[in-house]
Amino acid sequence: MTLSSAASASRSNILLNASKLTKTVQVGEQTLSIIKEVDIYINAGEFVVIMGKSGSGKSTLLGLLATLDYPDSGSVELADHMLSDLDEDALAVIRQRDMGFVFQSFHLLPTLTVAENIAFPLDIARRPNQARVNELIEAVDLGHRRDSLPNQLSGGEQQRTAVARALVSHPKIVFADEPTGNLDEQNANQVMQLLLDLRQQVGSALVVVTHDPALAAMADRVITMHDGRIVS
Ligand SMILES: Nc1ncnc2c1ncn2[C@@H]1O[C@H](COP(=O)(O)OP(=O)(O)OP(=O)(O)O)[C@@H](O)[C@H]1O
Ligand SMILES: [Mg+2]
Repeated sequence: MTLSSAASASRSNILLNASKLTKTVQVGEQTLSIIKEVDIYINAGEFVVIMGKSGSGKSTLLGLLATLDYPDSGSVELADHMLSDLDEDALAVIRQRDMGFVFQSFHLLPTLTVAENIAFPLDIARRPNQARVNELIEAVDLGHRRDSLPNQLSGGEQQRTAVARALVSHPKIVFADEPTGNLDEQNANQVMQLLLDLRQQVGSALVVVTHDPALAAMADRVITMHDGRIVS
């Protein structure tokens, strides 16, 4: 393969492409620039880790890529949709259909059982699929907890529920912000392994913010942030 055909092959594989993202926040009289003209792409099926010191902008960047937050300027494109041009209703459809989320503090719906939490993305998209839900419950080893509420679960069980929920609808991309940050080492390893195995089965891209070097060693690519910029 020539250099130029290799370059076009890798370009055609881009799933998410963000350019010149900037984000400022107002703190009293001061305007702080917390994301500074960041360009970033994620290939289809790619596993990317974002690292960097506390306060470097990792969670803010992830929120912008996942359309959970708005940039001051710049654009995010996902699989031929220019997300920056869409209104909130259209974005909600894309988030439901194409994205999965795992947060450090689990974010399960407190009044829904394990099975109902996992089913939730399919249900709100009006594509209920009990067989798929059962498959995921077994995959994360929660068959014995399917009717439990989140507050009846351990942290590891809650995060396994969140991992199943993130992958249930075969999303194109999963965003995870320190998904093992609130777990002990054994549960952290189990959750991460499940997340990696399930996303492999589904073929989703995975973007994980983490401080864990062992996890970074498994990634296809590691991006390092410093002071609102990507430095490597
Ligand atoms: N709403 C806000 N108002 C003021 N400052 C904010 C706001 N959100 C984020 N920041 C600041 O922006 C910077 C980046 O925050 P961010 O949460 O993205 O960092 P992070 O890299 O995820 O850090 P950590 O590893 O601690 O989670 C920090 O200095 C933070 O204090
Ligand atoms: Mg953070």
